[in-house]
Amino acid sequence: MNILDIIAKKRDKKILTRQEIQYFIDSYVKEEITDYQASALIMAIYINGMTDEEIKDFTLAMAYSGEVLDLSMFGENVVDKHSTGGVGDKITLILMPIIASLGIPVAKMSGRGLGFTGGTIDKLESIPGYETNQSIEKFIKNVENIGISLSCANLNLAPADKKIYALRDTISCVDNIPLIASSIMSKKIASGANKIVLEVTVGSGAFMKTIEKAEELANLMIRIGNLVGKETICVLTNMNEPIGYSIGNTLEVIEVVEALRGYMEHDVRDIVLELGSQMIKLSGNGEDIEVNKNKILQNINNGRAYNKFIELVSNQGGDIQFIQNTEKLKLAKYKIPVCSEKEGYVNSINVEKLGKISCYLGAGRLKKEDEIDNEVGIIVKKKVGDKINLNEDFAYVYANNLKLGNKAVEQIKECYNITKEKTKKLKSILGIIK
Ligand code: URA
Repeated sequence: MNILDIIAKKRDKKILTRQEIQYFIDSYVKEEITDYQASALIMAIYINGMTDEEIKDFTLAMAYSGEVLDLSMFGENVVDKHSTGGVGDKITLILMPIIASLGIPVAKMSGRGLGFTGGTIDKLESIPGYETNQSIEKFIKNVENIGISLSCANLNLAPADKKIYALRDTISCVDNIPLIASSIMSKKIASGANKIVLEVTVGSGAFMKTIEKAEELANLMIRIGNLVGKETICVLTNMNEPIGYSIGNTLEVIEVVEALRGYMEHDVRDIVLELGSQMIKLSGNGEDIEVNKNKILQNINNGRAYNKFIELVSNQGGDIQFIQNTEKLKLAKYKIPVCSEKEGYVNSINVEKLGKISCYLGAGRLKKEDEIDNEVGIIVKKKVGDKINLNEDFAYVYANNLKLGNKAVEQIKECYNITKEKTKKLKSILGIIK
């Protein structure tokens, strides 16, 4: 077998065999295939697509390209959650302690942010002392001891996906449904869960800009789940506004703590309740979605979810003083208001641009190796449908560099489309696909 024939086959719109896909993945991980050859094949896949069978083979080859976690000691219904990515998406940090507080084991591997979307691991690392790097043994022990571990997906899980994802990022091949589906599902298979709840984000701050594309992605991931024997549910969520009110690592941790204490923005609450109730159902702990939502609300109200978060932070070496009193968390030197030059209603928000502004302030990475600044970010006080008065501060920029901060202020004004006509508030949950 050789890579030239495989590239030519896909270039000519032919179907690759399992052996050919396996050969490509294995050889690329071993660096026996060059980046330019892999780029050619990925671009051919991007243009000519893959059949379901090819996608399944591609997914499995990536999933088994490194270590595969065995979580069978936690039962047959270990459930995991993944988001296709968004701006201000702190849902994992709120949801996972809630699920663990209900006695459902949470063994969650998360990633870092890349591009305009944030990553759970970066947010966790803004808590002083929190250790995201753990051995598999420690990761499992933590779940056994306190029911939850939130760690970095650095245990050589699906290394082929890591390499191919980074490559796709450099050759404009990220926004492709078969490639996104296989990337996500390979990581979920490698991280050991046998039930999967996927949050598929839709809108200006997501990879899928339209509901039709999001449904196509969701249906494909469900088909892959079925083909590999992992029950999968997709919840479509609205990314035409940031989730909650904060963008940026420390700012988001503060919002997480407030949410776990019961003060949740309506969209955060809707998404947490929907994803959480589906996770409870898949884990075999409650058939009725409405009853499950009540269980979640109960554990927020009685403090169990918040206490579980404190336990998690403490168990992974974090200093809980910063959670008990979030005013101790260090924020950027400059807090600059974004003042409206217009009066009216927020008609739409360019969320991708908002995510990029936060990234340029230092909250995210433009390149994989970039250092990030946890202290910077954006607070949005107004979302779609809200009224803004003339000269009202509708957002705040947190910056450590005044020039960058002032530039961000002007750019944020351009992200908001404010009109005279009253507009409706957005629905957070756009659909559930099983
Ligand atoms: N998230 C992933 O994990 N992979 C993709 O390809 C896109 C979003």
